[in-house]
Amino acid sequence: MKTDIQSIQYEPAGQFEATRYEKVHNVIFQDSKQGSLQVASEISNLIREKANKDQKCVLGLATGSSPIRVYEELVRMHREEGLSFKNVVTFNLDEYHPMERSNIQSYHYFMHQHLFDHIDIASENIHIPDGMISFQEAQEYCKEYERKIEEAGGLDFQLLGIGRTGHIGFNEPGSHYNSATRDITLDYVTRIDAASSFKGLENVPRKAITMGIRTIKKANRIVLLAWGQNKASVIRKTIEGDVSSEVPATYLQEHANTTFVLDKEAASQLTRIDTPWLVQNCEWTRDLTHKAVVWLSQKKDKPVLQLTDKDYNDMGMSDLLSSEQSSYEINIRTFNRLQHTITGWPGGKPNADDTNRPERAEPARKRVIIFSPHPDDDVISMGGTFDRLVSQGHEVHVVYQTSGNIAVADHEAVKAAEVANSMEPTGTFNQVLEEIREKTEGDFDSKLVRRLKGKIRRAESIAATRYLGIPDGQVHFLDLPFYETGTIKKKPLEKEDIAIMNTIIEEIKPHQIYAAGDLADPHGTHRVCLEALFASLDSLKSSPYMKDCWVWLYRGAWHEWDTHEIEMAVPMSPAQVLRKRKAIFFHQTQKDGVMFQGEDLREFWVRAEDRNKETAQRYQSLGLASYAAMEAFVRYDFFTG
Ligand code: F6R
Repeated sequence: MKTDIQSIQYEPAGQFEATRYEKVHNVIFQDSKQGSLQVASEISNLIREKANKDQKCVLGLATGSSPIRVYEELVRMHREEGLSFKNVVTFNLDEYHPMERSNIQSYHYFMHQHLFDHIDIASENIHIPDGMISFQEAQEYCKEYERKIEEAGGLDFQLLGIGRTGHIGFNEPGSHYNSATRDITLDYVTRIDAASSFKGLENVPRKAITMGIRTIKKANRIVLLAWGQNKASVIRKTIEGDVSSEVPATYLQEHANTTFVLDKEAASQLTRIDTPWLVQNCEWTRDLTHKAVVWLSQKKDKPVLQLTDKDYNDMGMSDLLSSEQSSYEINIRTFNRLQHTITGWPGGKPNADDTNRPERAEPARKRVIIFSPHPDDDVISMGGTFDRLVSQGHEVHVVYQTSGNIAVADHEAVKAAEVANSMEPTGTFNQVLEEIREKTEGDFDSKLVRRLKGKIRRAESIAATRYLGIPDGQVHFLDLPFYETGTIKKKPLEKEDIAIMNTIIEEIKPHQIYAAGDLADPHGTHRVCLEALFASLDSLKSSPYMKDCWVWLYRGAWHEWDTHEIEMAVPMSPAQVLRKRKAIFFHQTQKDGVMFQGEDLREFWVRAEDRNKETAQRYQSLGLASYAAMEAFVRYDFFTG
C-alpha cells in the first residue's frame, strides 16, 4: 500500500487489495488541480480509445464543485489537442426537482456552462434528468432514463463527487443498494450545503431526481473526486467504515473498479495519513514524533509530561520508544516545542533572545500586512493578534481582498439608501431602491446595488480598524476581480488579480504577512484568495525585501489548526477577548441571520470566541499554562512551498 502523496499515473483499481483499514482503492494528490488533470486524462484516453474502435463512449457525469477542474481540462483538450466528443453520450447523475432548465442553479445550466457549450458533443447525446417533469410522471420518466442508459450500452465511466452525508448522486442516507433512478427527498445537511448558492435554505429545493445506487454500480469504471478538508470525515467513513446505507458511498466498496481521487486535505483523516504509526512502522521524524505525542496525550487524556512508557506501548508507539532513550526525553522535547509556540509578542519581542520564539526580535517595529479574504475575517480570525500588533507599535496594514458585496442582504442596502435619501434625495439612491424593489428571486444585483453593498462593508471595516487603532490610510480594499460576478459562482483567478496583490505587497514591503490559510472547498473564496497570495509570493520572491518577509496563516471561521501544527499561539486575556468581540460587532451586516450562515447557527463572534477558548483549553490539557483564549498560526515558507 502506498503511503505517500502521489502525483503520478495511478495504478489500476483492479490491483488493489483491501487492508485492515482501507476498503476502497484511492490515490492522494498534492492538490485538486493535479488530481483533476489525471482524471481528465483518463477520460480523454477512454474517449479516444473508443473512437478508434468506432464505438460510443458512455459517460456518467456529476455536477457540484468537485468536477469543475476536470471539465475545464476536457474543454482545454478539446480546444488545444483536438479531443472530439462526437462519439460521447452522457448521462447526468441528478437534477433538483422541481427545477427549470434556465435557472442558474439547475444542473442543466451547470453542465452547459462548464462543459457542453464548449465541446462538439451532439445535443441528442446529452441526458440530464428533467427537473420540470411532474411528480405524477416522475416514476415513468425515471424508468425511461434507466432504459436509455441500457440502450446506450451502459455506463463506461461514472464520475462522482461525494456529499457530506455520504451521498453519491443524490442517494441520501437510507438509500437501498438496489435502488434505481428515482425521485428522492434531500437530506437537511445537503440542503444546508446548497443554501449559500440558493441565497438561503428556504430557496433550496426539497427533492431531486437521482440515478440509483444500482445504476451507478453497473458502470464499468467509477472515479469519485473529493477535495478539501470539509470532505475528510466522510472520506474516512467511506474508505474505512463498514458498508452501510447510512453512508451510501460505502456501497462503492463492493465495486471492483472504483478509484477515489483525493487531495491531501480530503485524505487527511485516513488512518494511514493521520496516525500512520497505527498502520505500519514509521520513520520517526521530529514532526511525526511531535504529532504522535500530542495525539497520545489527547487520547490518554493526560498532560504530555505525565505520559509513561506503557502509554506509548499501548497505543502502537513502541517502535518510537525503542528509537529514543525514554518516554521522559520525548515528553520533555514535545512539551518544550509546544511551550515555544506561545507568545504574547506576535511581531517579535524587542531586545529579547529570540532563539526559541516564533518571531524574530528584529526589526523591532515591523511592517505588517493582514490579508483578509472578506471584510471581517481579520477581526474574526485574528482580532486579538491584530490588537497586540498595533499596541506593540508595529505598522499594521489591513488588506481586504474582496468586496464581500454579495453577503449584504437587500434590506441592509435599502436601509442605507433610505438614510442617504432622507438627508438629500438623489437619483442614485432612488434608483437603488427601485432596483431592489423590482428584483425577483434569482436576479443578480446590478453594479450600482453591488457598489452600495460594497461601500457598506467598507464603512464597517473602517469602523472596526479605527477601533483597533490603525489610521484609515493603512486600510486597503483590493476588490479582486475574480469575486465581482454578482453571484456565488466566481470567475477563475486571472493575472489581473495577482497583479493587484503584487502591487500592494511591493508598496508595503512587509516583514510579516498574515493570511487566511483555509484548505476547505477549493472553489471557496478563502481558498482562491490564498491561491492568489501564493501566486503573488511566488512571483515576488526574488525581490530583496522578500527575504525578510515571514508569512503566517490563520484559519477561517470554520476550522482551527490541529494543535501539533500550530507554530505560533497568541494568548488573549479576558479583556482582550472583549475587545475582539467589539471589533467584530462593527460588522453589523454580518451579524445575526447572515446570508451565508451555513449549518452552524452561532453568530461569528460566538464562533470565534468558542474556537479561541477551545485552543487555549487544548494547550491546557496538554499540561501548558491556562489562558482565557488563544489565536493560532502556522508559518508558510514560500521559498520551499
Ligand atoms: C452532483 C451530485 C452530488 C455531488 C456532491 C458533492 O451531481 O450528484 O452527489 O457530487 O454533493 O458536491 P460538491 O462537489 O459541490 O462538494
